[in-house]
Amino acid sequence: MRNERGGSYSLENFRHLALGEVSSTNTECLTRARQGEASGLWITAERQTAGRGRRGRAWTSEVGNLYASLLLIDPSPPELLSSLPLAVSLAVHWTLRRVLPATAEAVEIKWPNDVLIGRKKSCGILLEAEILPDGRRAVVCGIGINIRHRPETAPYGVTSLQEQGATSSAGEVFTHLFDEMIQILNIWDHGHGVAEVTRFWRSAACGIGTMIRVNLPDRSLDGVFVGIDDDGLLILETENRLHHIAAGDVFLLETE
Ligand code: BTN
Repeated sequence: MRNERGGSYSLENFRHLALGEVSSTNTECLTRARQGEASGLWITAERQTAGRGRRGRAWTSEVGNLYASLLLIDPSPPELLSSLPLAVSLAVHWTLRRVLPATAEAVEIKWPNDVLIGRKKSCGILLEAEILPDGRRAVVCGIGINIRHRPETAPYGVTSLQEQGATSSAGEVFTHLFDEMIQILNIWDHGHGVAEVTRFWRSAACGIGTMIRVNLPDRSLDGVFVGIDDDGLLILETENRLHHIAAGDVFLLETE
């Protein structure tokens, strides 16, 4: 397990900058990357005024939830990067299991990286990448965890850690996330540990073997969620074929 300098990740590879109000912690990381910031910077904020979600959606960001982004520079060869979102979702999954009481509902991952509690969304993960002027690739892993608040209206079920009986603050949840991210980055091993990551991911996933709907930009497909392939793509079986899907919104059509 090697970091960019040839060793495994440990505490000293990471720094934490805690900010008050920002537009988006992802934006803060990318701005600093353009200015020459080194890999391993975590930025957290109390509040975001322009938090971003997937597919251009806004991420409501009130004080009390966790907004955190990790900057990684050239974390893997480009062709091995597609499994990083799965790895990040495992770090969040392990974090939630550390802070939730035994009475909380099941913690599961919905492809690709929504971490659900009792089948309700509790967190959002947005990875963004950019090539820097010197040719290196900056990758930002943005993570929002509903701790005290959750959206009032959403097209899917939503929950918060507080609602599930957890008492940890955003700062306490971040401490666990910081540790768990080091664990999973070492397992991921710059993309070379994808088999180990997908093995963990499959054991935490929900909906494998059941009917799901995948909303793609241009159409929607219903089929059986067969699993994920070794690149982290979703495998969907429809009547006549297997589809390997890189991006889409998944809806579970069966409750169990
Ligand atoms: C999703 O749509 O599910 C992804 C939401 C990601 C939100 C987090 S909050 C911290 C980071 N900063 C952002 O602007 N977005 C991510």
